Amino acid sequence: MSVSIKTPQEIKKMRVAGRLTSEVLDYIGPFVKAGVTTNELDRLCHELIVNVQNAIPAPLNYAPGGHTPYPKSICTSINHQICHGVPSEKALKNGDIVNIDITVIKDGYHGDSSRMYYVGEPSIQARRLCETTYQAMWKGINQVKAGAYLGDIGYAIQSFVEPLGYSVVREFCGHGIGAKFHEEPQVLHYGRPKTGLKLEAGMVFTIEPMINAGKKEIKQLGDGWTVVTRDHSLSAQYEHTILVTDTGFEVLTVSAGTPPSP
Ligand code: MF3
Ligand code: CO
Ligand code: CO
Repeated sequence: MSVSIKTPQEIKKMRVAGRLTSEVLDYIGPFVKAGVTTNELDRLCHELIVNVQNAIPAPLNYAPGGHTPYPKSICTSINHQICHGVPSEKALKNGDIVNIDITVIKDGYHGDSSRMYYVGEPSIQARRLCETTYQAMWKGINQVKAGAYLGDIGYAIQSFVEPLGYSVVREFCGHGIGAKFHEEPQVLHYGRPKTGLKLEAGMVFTIEPMINAGKKEIKQLGDGWTVVTRDHSLSAQYEHTILVTDTGFEVLTVSAGTPPSP
């Protein structure tokens, strides 16, 4: 396993890519309303990234080994959709919860971040799932520092959400990121303390727990991308891109609208 240590010059570029990614999430928030189609959200984000940020939406035509090329510029995962939801002509409706996942390439480097959005007023259960998932991501982030282990991150997330009756998706994980979208290491959102890779300053990876209100099992839809909960329970996800430092971490996907840490 080879996990790259980013140089100071690379880290500078990743701060820029991370900020732009987060600014797309800030920008799209006010458009997430009942009646809007996810295609419209995709178009708005695409135009901001390409025409204003002079950057590249990494998902568009992304085709990792064996996958059909991803057809859109963002991922929009609604309600029981776990991740990689493909924007469509379907309109959002009151009470939906939507994950919007943005990955921007700027000057050769990637930023990757996602947040949950409420369409009107969510149910109490939906809101609780989203808030818990946000806290879970932060439980993981707070483990990060040189000398800690990847297993510490997974354990912090799993041991927080499972006693609440939620489950952690196993098939998808966080990932190293840099000049490539998905690099080593794999960052599992479950695990045991003091196991796995030992973190070093200069590593950059995402933490992006997918938390289901019901069982952990997934189902892959026929479009080749959209992943849903097998039991059709609600699912939520938040994601940040994180730099490991000697004393802790730096969140790279930050902007004026980034929600405060809990
Ligand atoms: N942004 C997702 C992640 O966090 C990956 C999306 S791949 C795509 O890793 F092709 F669906 F866009
Ligand atoms: Co990611
Ligand atoms: Co992402």
